[in-house]
Amino acid sequence: MSAIEVQGLCPIKGEIIVQGSKNAVLPMMAGAVLNKGITVIDNVPRIQDVFCMMGILDSLGCSCVLDGHSLTINAAGLSRFSIPREEMEKMRSSIMLLGALLGRCKEAEVYYPGGCMIGKRPIDLHLMALEKMGVLIEEGEGDEPLRASVPRLRGTVVDFPFPSVGATENAIFAAVAASGKTILKGCAKEPEITELCRFMNNMGASIRGAGSDLLVIEGGLPLHDSRFTVCGDRIAGGTYLLAAAGAGGELLLTGTESAGLLTVTTVLKRMGALVYAEDELIYVKAPERLQASSIKTDPYPGFPTDLQSIMMAVMSRAEGTSIIEEKIFENRFKTAVELEKLGAEIIVEEDIARIVGHTHLKGSHVEAKDLRGGAALVAAGMMAEGTTIVSSCEYIMRGYEDICRDLSGMGACIRYVEEPAGR
Ligand code: EPZ
Repeated sequence: MSAIEVQGLCPIKGEIIVQGSKNAVLPMMAGAVLNKGITVIDNVPRIQDVFCMMGILDSLGCSCVLDGHSLTINAAGLSRFSIPREEMEKMRSSIMLLGALLGRCKEAEVYYPGGCMIGKRPIDLHLMALEKMGVLIEEGEGDEPLRASVPRLRGTVVDFPFPSVGATENAIFAAVAASGKTILKGCAKEPEITELCRFMNNMGASIRGAGSDLLVIEGGLPLHDSRFTVCGDRIAGGTYLLAAAGAGGELLLTGTESAGLLTVTTVLKRMGALVYAEDELIYVKAPERLQASSIKTDPYPGFPTDLQSIMMAVMSRAEGTSIIEEKIFENRFKTAVELEKLGAEIIVEEDIARIVGHTHLKGSHVEAKDLRGGAALVAAGMMAEGTTIVSSCEYIMRGYEDICRDLSGMGACIRYVEEPAGR
C-alpha cells in the first residue's frame, strides 16, 4: 500500500494519544552506541526511520530488538565504525552516528546523509564542532567516504553560529566522550535536544543547561545500562491539531508537552480556534472556517519549520490572505504545487508564500514530495470536497507510525490503498 485515500468533509471530533517522538528517539539510538552495554528505550514509534536506524546499528555489530514500543539496544558487540553510502542516504539522522562512533571508537567512516529534499542541508557545523574537539576529517572525493579520526577527544568551547539541531546532537555525543569539560554555545534548544540531554544523563553523562542555548558537559564519565521513556512526538501532535482545526473540527490531543507547541496553539487562537492547553493535554475546537494569519518559521521556540507545510494546507481554506516566511530551509515550499491541485491559491516568492484562502477545496490526486508535505496533503484532503488520493505515502510512513489510524480516531474518512495504476 503506497497511497492514502481521504474522503473529505467528514465531521472531525475525537481524541488522539500521540506516538513517541521520531526526532527525539533517533538521536537517542545513536547515543546508545556510547554505552558498551544495554540501553532500553520505551514509547518508541514503529516508523521507517527507526527500523532503518536499527539496521545501521545492527550492521555495526550492535543488536537491536523492538518489542512493541520497547527498543533494546545492546551495543557491547559494536565492532565496526564504517557505514555504507546506501544506509547513510536513507535519512538525515544517520549523520548522528558520526559523533557517536567518534566517541566510542575514535574513528568513523560515513557518507553525506539523506533525508527530505527540503534544502542543501550541509554538515559544516557538525564538522566544525568535531574539529574543535580534535577530530581530523578527510572529506572523501567521489565514492570515497568521509573519514574522521581522533587520537583523543578533548573538551573545548564550541560557539555555533546557527542553532543546528543535528550539529548540537553530534557535539553532545563527542563532548560526553571527550576528556575534560566542553561548553557548547548557541546550541539548538528544541525539546528533542532537552530530551536527549535527559537521556544521556540517565546513562551517566553530566550535561547541564538543557533547554538553554548553552550546554556544559563534563566528558569522560563512565556510562552504564539504562532505561528511558521517550517523550511524545511534538510534530506529529501538531500535525493532528492543525488537521483538526483546518477541517473545522475538535480534537483532544494527549501525550506531548503543550509547551513545545505554544507557537502553534497561539497561531490557532489568532485564527479563531478555541484552544485549551495544560501539561500534556491540548484541546482545540475550530470554527467552520478559520481566519487568515501569518507565521515565520524559526529555531525553537519559534514556529517549527516541520509544521509549516501543514499550516499552509490549513491556510488554504482560511478567510483572507495568509503569509508564511520559511527561514530555516531554502526549499520547503514544494507542497504548494500539490496543494494547488486541490484548488489552493499560493504565490511563492523566494522564502515567502502568500496563501489566498478559498471557501472550498476539491479532492484530487496529489503526490507527497517529503515527509511533512505528505502529511499536509492528507490534512488538505480532509478539508476538500470529494476524494483525495495522496501517492508516495512511504514518505509519510518515515515519521508517522499510522497516520490513518490516528486521523480515523478523530473521525477522518481515510485509508491506505494501492497506488493507482499509471502513476
Ligand atoms: C532536524 O534536522 C530535524 N530532523 C528536522 O525534522 C527539522 O526540520 C530540523 O531539525 C529543524 O528543526 C531530525 O531531527 C531527524 P538543522 P537537522 O541542522 O538536524 C542548516 C522532519 O520533518 N545547517 O537544525 O538536519 C540546514 O541546511 C525533519 O522530522 C547548515 O547550514 O536540522 C538548515 O537550513 C525535517 N549546516 C538549517 O541549518 C549544518 O552543518 C537547520 O538544520 C547543519 C545545518
